Amino acid sequence: MAFNIDLIREMETPFYYYDMQLLDDTLQAVNSNIAGRPVKVHYAVKANANPGILKRISTAGFGADCVSGGEISLALEAGFKPEDIFFAGVGKTDREIRQGLEAGIGSFVVESLEELEVIARLADKMNRTARITLRVNPNIDAHTHHYITTGLEENKFGIDMRLLDKAVNFAVCNPNLDLIGLHFHIGSQITTNEPFVVLSERVNELVSRYRAHGVNFRIIDLGGGLGVDYDDPDANPIPDFKGYFDTIMANLKVEPGQQIHCEPGRSIVAQCGSLISRVVYVKNGMERKFVILDAGMNDLLRPALYGAHHKIQNLTADPDSRQEYYDVVGPVCESSDVFGQEELLPETHRGDIFALRSAGAYGESMASRYNARDLPGSLLV
Ligand code: LLP
Repeated sequence: MAFNIDLIREMETPFYYYDMQLLDDTLQAVNSNIAGRPVKVHYAVKANANPGILKRISTAGFGADCVSGGEISLALEAGFKPEDIFFAGVGKTDREIRQGLEAGIGSFVVESLEELEVIARLADKMNRTARITLRVNPNIDAHTHHYITTGLEENKFGIDMRLLDKAVNFAVCNPNLDLIGLHFHIGSQITTNEPFVVLSERVNELVSRYRAHGVNFRIIDLGGGLGVDYDDPDANPIPDFKGYFDTIMANLKVEPGQQIHCEPGRSIVAQCGSLISRVVYVKNGMERKFVILDAGMNDLLRPALYGAHHKIQNLTADPDSRQEYYDVVGPVCESSDVFGQEELLPETHRGDIFALRSAGAYGESMASRYNARDLPGSLLV
């Protein structure tokens, strides 16, 4: 990722800086790996819904995976075609379901029998047919942080395999529902291909079992989850899409006419974004030195919420200055407002400019106004 430091110096901080060339290269890497394969990629809007980013992604030919009426509106404004929008989430409200039906979205990704019944009722009232993808909880451990693992029976997501027959029957028999596929999402920031092998095997079993009973699925949606390198973003700016798609295509039995969908979020946008911040104070404690930034947990929540670590860089320090250990913190009144402890950094001064790297995914989109702070701005370069 390249920084235009002259431009950055002129900006008020904090803000998100996006390297649009890296985003384009990442989108291109995805597209070249799915070319000639029956694969369609729906970008998970929750990772980053910045309008400029969404527009680039829709222009590259991707669909959108949305989880709220608000995300559907943003996706439509950014130019995603309604039929390329899938709508997931365990708590879709009646209003959101009507919005989806009105817009003619590609599919509702249904997470319970209860939701299926409500969609059928609303579709009937509106004289529409709702395309349905059933989200299955495949009970697979994705070996990732417990806050972002979603495919275990204890999680709230998806339909338990033991209830799936009932949901399939209901959907097949209802004239207002068109059952088009099955959906799976096992977790996020998955850094080995093994969970995707296990998932593919689970999908094969299910698909062939239903096929034997005369139910064919046009779409198999594998969700998102491919991880990124937070430790060394410059060594691995573009995730291993080849490994990911090769693994899926080698392990999944794709039936003729079937389309494989996936919903990457983090792997598309994480590395092209950094949170840029100025040093407000370098505070000398008795035991530690603190770098206090003007960006806090309200701007980038991942460290406080998941104990995540984003690589910290001083963009303006003299590279030849001696290195020191600093705790890098934000200004918010919470002890968890910490970006890094004992970070080895060049000698740092008030006014220096810092970059918190790999922050393009779940950074700006999770920002809040806690402590009545402004939302971070953004710069697309
Ligand atoms: N599809 C579904 C149904 C999902 O729930 C998610 C993410 C994705 C796709 C995209 O997954 P990705 O490719 O980004 O791993 N805020 C957390 C991540 C939460 C992910 C939630 N679901 C974080 O900052 O790590």
